[in-house]
Amino acid sequence: MLLCKMSNSQLCNMRDELLQQLDAYKKMSLSLNMTRGKPCKEQLDLTTELFKNVDIYTDSTDEYGVDCRNYGELYGIRGLRKLLAPLVCATEERVIAGGSSSLNMMFDVMMKLVVFGADDKNPPWGTGKQVKFLCPSPGYDRHFAITELLGFDLIKVDMTDNGPDMDQVEDLVRDDPSVKGMWFMPVYSNPTGSICSDDNLRRIAWMKTAAPDFRIFCDNAYPVHFLEKYDKMNVNILDECKKAGNEDRVFVFSSTSKISYPGSGVALMASSENNIRSYAKMLSKQTIGPNKMIQLLHLRAFKSFDDILVHMEHQAEILRPKFKAVIEILEKELGSLGIAEWTNPRGGYFISFDTMEGCAKKTVELAKSVGVEFTNAGATFPYGKDEKDRNIRIAPTLPPVKDLKMAIEVLCTCVKLASIEKILEGQRVSNAV
Ligand SMILES: Cc1ncc(COP(=O)(O)O)c(C=O)c1O
Repeated sequence: MLLCKMSNSQLCNMRDELLQQLDAYKKMSLSLNMTRGKPCKEQLDLTTELFKNVDIYTDSTDEYGVDCRNYGELYGIRGLRKLLAPLVCATEERVIAGGSSSLNMMFDVMMKLVVFGADDKNPPWGTGKQVKFLCPSPGYDRHFAITELLGFDLIKVDMTDNGPDMDQVEDLVRDDPSVKGMWFMPVYSNPTGSICSDDNLRRIAWMKTAAPDFRIFCDNAYPVHFLEKYDKMNVNILDECKKAGNEDRVFVFSSTSKISYPGSGVALMASSENNIRSYAKMLSKQTIGPNKMIQLLHLRAFKSFDDILVHMEHQAEILRPKFKAVIEILEKELGSLGIAEWTNPRGGYFISFDTMEGCAKKTVELAKSVGVEFTNAGATFPYGKDEKDRNIRIAPTLPPVKDLKMAIEVLCTCVKLASIEKILEGQRVSNAV
């Protein structure tokens, strides 16, 4: 029965039962952390199995004669760039394989735009509110944190099931030259899991922007992180931008963080020839080259892109039951109550959960009070402010299924309680009127 159709006494009875349930959870001294999307031990073990048989020390020279133990190869080793180029929608000439973190690369590209500008024709962006940056939301908190740190004016754009709301995006960029860029996740976005439609990818490439130095940070963090089957993108964003005469518009980033080891893998970026050339020129002042031994390890462990897909299928086997468990509990506990909605993603690392308006913070607080920690409500919005106070990010990958089930049961109890209190409060207000 829909909660909003229940009588006052039904709601009060239900609230009392839920409070008892919460008390029972408290007595269990739970300590469950659901805050970050990290791979679990079993996923990491798969990579260890693969890596432990790879020898990079007897012969550390790659197929092009580069001794990977030594300095050099600013762009990263060529074989690896070739292998991983599909992750960033490019061919290897336009790919830079760097250190272990794509987030670090994004930060670095952003800083170069702030300090040096997009190219010779445009001034540096500088820091502060004069730079407006579009933030499709709910989105990735660490993206928003970078642009917040730089003092940019963060503009919220709605996420849809097919990517950013492109009507809003086009309206915002058309006439205002201070709108300089946008965060964007094309596949299995964090946290909604949405896949950008072909039509929206084309609109991103072709839209008219008032700023000639408008740049899109396309974070392809989860390109091969399917749960059922590989969702290959039909529209290549870099090629489409070129066709549209907006070749320099997009930087595409990715990494092996959730393919092999987070923090000990390889990050990648690709863009137009111009952008890559000018980025590399600046990069050459920062470093003499990346960690090529790690790159060689990845190249020798994953000989082909198909090998990567097979490895990711094994990871999916580990993750499928976790996502399934979450969805099943949500459907069973909340499916008929009309108080929450959630995504059922085809891949990625998250499930996005929306409460009734004004209930997300309370839900997270209640869960925390019994030892279950979720990412702060609001974290998926710029400045950590979810105006409707609805969104909670669920990260099912790290905990064992048993803990995960317990955490989601707790979430369901808490969201029911928060919703009932909200409805009862509404009833009190309308009775008073
Ligand atoms: C969307 C997204 N981008 C980037 C990252 C971090 O990537 P990296 O480890 O390559 O810095 C994450 C990690 O959760 C993520 O969810």
